[in-house]
Amino acid sequence: MNVDLTESLKIRQLSAEEEIPYHLLLLADPSQKLIDDYLLSGEVYVASLEEAIVGAYVLTPLNDDEIEIKNIAVETEYQNKGLGSILLDDATLKAKEKSFKILIIGTADSSLGQLYLYQKQGFEISGIKKDFFIENYEEPIYENGVLCRHMIVLTKHL
Ligand code: ACO
Repeated sequence: MNVDLTESLKIRQLSAEEEIPYHLLLLADPSQKLIDDYLLSGEVYVASLEEAIVGAYVLTPLNDDEIEIKNIAVETEYQNKGLGSILLDDATLKAKEKSFKILIIGTADSSLGQLYLYQKQGFEISGIKKDFFIENYEEPIYENGVLCRHMIVLTKHL
């Protein structure tokens, strides 16, 4: 982990007047339509280094008890430096402060790095949404030659 980078990171909620950082959100989810759907009820948090936004996540409540990280992304050149872990810690803190009991995150069956990361961050695999990526995306998505088919759902009890 790069100590200087993580110490300089500032995370804040995006205000209504600011532009949505779609270039980041689209790294995590290639469907602008799905992004716009969960932004209707979600809050966007952005992480900045000096003035530049280098990461973002979206928290969307599902019901009184459960809230989901619908999207999390770090600018490509800043990945694997510990920033994603800080965003996940921050999302956990925000969800606790809002008195939710369960934090949810979903990722593709083909997203092995994300599955490692989320489990290291205290999430546990709790379900599978069969054929989610086949049914909800117009184009097939491949990662390392593997077709994204099912969504793996992970949960963290707060
Ligand atoms: N094997 C083992 N662990 C791996 C592997 C792998 N092949 N690939 C990644 N990891 C894990 C490691 O645990 C590593 O942690 P370590 O520091 O202990 O080695 C961790 O990934 C990386 O941790 P960070 O540096 O904290 O994370 P990063 O800043 O790279 O952010 C993120 C992670 C947000 C997933 C980033 O890579 C990204 O933006 N990717 C593109 C968008 C994306 O896929 N977003 C998630 C989609 S799911 C959703 O949005 C709900």
